[in-house]
Amino acid sequence: MQAESAEAIVRALSVALMNGTVYFPEHRRVAEASREAAAALDRYFESRESFVLGIVKGLLIVDGEPLYDLSVRAHRLLVVIGERGGFGARFARGITADEIMAFIKTLLQARTRSAEEFNALLARQEIAHAVLQVKPLREAPREGAAASDRAQAAIAPTPGDFEVETGESYLEVYPWALDAIHNFITNFKHDHKASLTQMTEIALRLTDVLSKDPNAFVAMASVKDYDSYTFNHSVNVCIYAMAIAECLTTDKKELVAVAQAGLLHDVGKVLIPDEVLFKPGALSDAEWQVMRRHPELGAKILMEARGVADIAISVAFGHHLRNDQRGYPALGAQITVDPLTQLVNVIDVYEALTAKRPYKKPFTPERAAEVLLRGAGSEFNPLCVDLFFRCLGIFPPGTPVRLADGSEGVVAMANPSDAAHPVVHVTREAGGGALEQPAIVDTAERLPDGGYRLEIAGSVAALQAQAQAGAPA
Ligand SMILES: [Fe+2]
Repeated sequence: MQAESAEAIVRALSVALMNGTVYFPEHRRVAEASREAAAALDRYFESRESFVLGIVKGLLIVDGEPLYDLSVRAHRLLVVIGERGGFGARFARGITADEIMAFIKTLLQARTRSAEEFNALLARQEIAHAVLQVKPLREAPREGAAASDRAQAAIAPTPGDFEVETGESYLEVYPWALDAIHNFITNFKHDHKASLTQMTEIALRLTDVLSKDPNAFVAMASVKDYDSYTFNHSVNVCIYAMAIAECLTTDKKELVAVAQAGLLHDVGKVLIPDEVLFKPGALSDAEWQVMRRHPELGAKILMEARGVADIAISVAFGHHLRNDQRGYPALGAQITVDPLTQLVNVIDVYEALTAKRPYKKPFTPERAAEVLLRGAGSEFNPLCVDLFFRCLGIFPPGTPVRLADGSEGVVAMANPSDAAHPVVHVTREAGGGALEQPAIVDTAERLPDGGYRLEIAGSVAALQAQAQAGAPA
């Protein structure tokens, strides 16, 4: 419960900051997120006096526990706090939504790199319940030795940390990719010029990480977040597309082109009005007409920019052209769509289904796989669906799963010849206790009688949904 509300607090603060950057600090979206942060803090303060968001080497620490996934999602927030000289932030009981909004505004607008000066700025505005951490977490007396020890231990690489040989972990690469898209959109909104320098750099970096460890690379896409889902979606589509392309080619130039195509496939949405793009309910017919223009708008933006691979333009234009030609833009005639565009059509739907959105729960991997299999031959090119499962499996790397014996772990590697039986990194025994020695289990291994030795019972998400519903998910 505590962890949940900590997540809600950080998430809401992060959204407030993001919207303050994309729009402006007084925007209603910042106010909304500030109210959400205040409400989440109120829940947290039912049992605590203050909430400390600590930052140790880019990793978010709350109550002495490292929060890996949230470190990625709240990357911008952590960066901006760091830029103001803070080692985190502390919020005290009694804080209001207005104070949070003013805190965010000060974070965005202050020119100082000193946390002391920043706190003085807050005091001048009579913001009494929020300060930046002036000292590193380990030196902060209130957290105590145990908490800081845990924090220090947490930053040591662990097998589950998706560390790659380059020394870059997903904690670093993924936020850079989010930043690249974020900056691209912000700059484009500002001067309507598409600058791809950072985007190309990130495509190169992603290619490097992919070549070192393809499975850890795919696991990055398990970062699902509905607060910045537009950005997350583009990065995750890019990751899946690159991982699948890597099954077919090792040509770096081609992989960079695929990365660009994935990152930029929805770039046309930058020209869709917010009222339509972020409308919480169903779109009217007229609004759909507007939304359906994003592929051609995206292709136009990319054609006018320099250094964009042709394939990225094709993907931006054609990723909603279904296999049965019933998608959009309506071209009115049979056309040949290139294979990558058809593949992104599949990935786009899969990622959207499995993403967290404000208005829906994410599909489990099993349910999303069913949708792809059902649509193969009509909505989707069947060869692309087949390729998707060969490269990523029914349970893509990074998916938490439970095995038939009750033990749990995370999928480490897909099995190209058996999509439902990947290799699993098992970390918990039946009943939930942590294994002293994590084990690698190949769920495709057969017994002499031909049966599987130890199968996957299901994804943890699907099994939890089943348990809650009391019926199969
Ligand atoms: Fe799209």
